[in-house]
Amino acid sequence: MSVDVVILAAGQGSRMKSAMPKVLHKVGGKPMVQHVIDTARTLNAADLHVVIGHGADQVRELLNSQNINVVLQAEQLGTGHAVAQAMPAVTADGVTLVLYGDVPMIRSETLTQMVILADQDNLALLTVNLTDPTGYGRIVRDAASHAVQAIVEHKDANAVQLAINEVNTGILAVPSRWLQQWLPQLSANNAQGEYYLTDIIAMAASQGVTIAAIQPEAEQEVQGVNNRLQLSELERWYQSRQAEQLMLAGVTLADPARIDLRGNLTTGQDVYLDINLVVEGDVTLGDNVVIEANCCLKDCRIASGCHIKANTVIEQADLGPDCEVGPYARLRPGTKLAAKAKVGNFVETKKTVVGEGSKINHLSYIGDAELGAGVNVGAGTITCNYDGVNKSRTEIQDGAFIGSNSSLVAPVTIGAQATIGAGSTITKNVQPDALALTRAKQAQIENWPRPRKNTQKGEQ
Ligand code: UD1
Ligand code: CA
Repeated sequence: MSVDVVILAAGQGSRMKSAMPKVLHKVGGKPMVQHVIDTARTLNAADLHVVIGHGADQVRELLNSQNINVVLQAEQLGTGHAVAQAMPAVTADGVTLVLYGDVPMIRSETLTQMVILADQDNLALLTVNLTDPTGYGRIVRDAASHAVQAIVEHKDANAVQLAINEVNTGILAVPSRWLQQWLPQLSANNAQGEYYLTDIIAMAASQGVTIAAIQPEAEQEVQGVNNRLQLSELERWYQSRQAEQLMLAGVTLADPARIDLRGNLTTGQDVYLDINLVVEGDVTLGDNVVIEANCCLKDCRIASGCHIKANTVIEQADLGPDCEVGPYARLRPGTKLAAKAKVGNFVETKKTVVGEGSKINHLSYIGDAELGAGVNVGAGTITCNYDGVNKSRTEIQDGAFIGSNSSLVAPVTIGAQATIGAGSTITKNVQPDALALTRAKQAQIENWPRPRKNTQKGEQ
């Protein structure tokens, strides 16, 4: 069976009050329409069609290179008209599934169920019961048989129909050949002057087609986003579900309400995550990793036994086992720590490889550098890697000791077991086992009279 998925994303979303098209607003760091696309991709043999209109250029930019049939609906004449725009590219003997770019949380399991029903020559409809159905299309059923007969839009409904709590989510699956037959028969003769996709339900019923209405597991699955309040509600729901999955996978969360995953987090056994962690991109944490409060982790790999202390920011870095980082450390792209390395408070690293057991414990900037094993970098050490035009490299070999408040002017190499005296500015290579220091000699003047302020009479 082939499945054509048609995702409607042409609407303006004016209530978002945004210059950005609604479907590009993000849930969990990912554009809403991308959630729908990714979920649709989990269905077998799915061809994707996305109908765009408002903000077409911006949406197209996201869709290009994703192997999607992008269809422009220049004028938004209704949901039926929108689906019709994609029909020329739809395979007649398959099933068409209609989804929405602003309904991001729909689950693959629900869609699979619908596609199977449609493949068995039913019209599969996803409905939900709402205590307040205002604004939604109402599901009209036969009083005796309970069979679905039609969908009536809120603006077209009579008093009896308005009292119905079962509403249309908009999501449906139907054999494509019928859709090709029904869509050209739609008329815009209704309260909104639009071509309603929902009118195909009555056509199906009159043709004796079984309309199989199923309901989602959770209401949020079919929740559309019209404003930023609803966006934030879905965001929180999405985050709490991810937190649940983490905990069920064996991760301890100090507070499941205070973690934000905006990417993919892979975890080993007995990981502990304290509050306010933000994860972006692909992050992997090994066994027994501890992340203290208020850390931001982006595209990084942190091997087992690492302890990341509070308020640390790590991006595009690779940490070997049993490292200690932070509090208040910043590991920038290209940082690689070998096993048992330590990077302490107010230390920034960039494009730097740190050898096994080496320490950069306090107040340093180490960039474009390679440190061997067992190196000790004293407080306030700076690699001067940039002359305003060029970046140059610093090499610090095994066992070297860099005294506090030293500047290493790159390109420069500090040999193995060498020692740099505190407060030095090192501009030339230092041989292994040598001591280098560039400090000025200390002068001393005995009994030096310190200048004092003149105090005049009468002044207080
Ligand atoms: C639609 C349904 C209604 C259902 C509700 C659920 C119809 C006629 N009505 O109503 O039964 O309860 O959704 O939210 O289908 N769109 C386009 N092109 C268009 C028109 C719409 O791409 O020409 C897209 C919009 O961007 C939006 C979606 O389709 O994502 C729904 O359109 P909207 O006009 O909001 O339909 P509703 O009035 O909410
Ligand atoms: Ca809507």
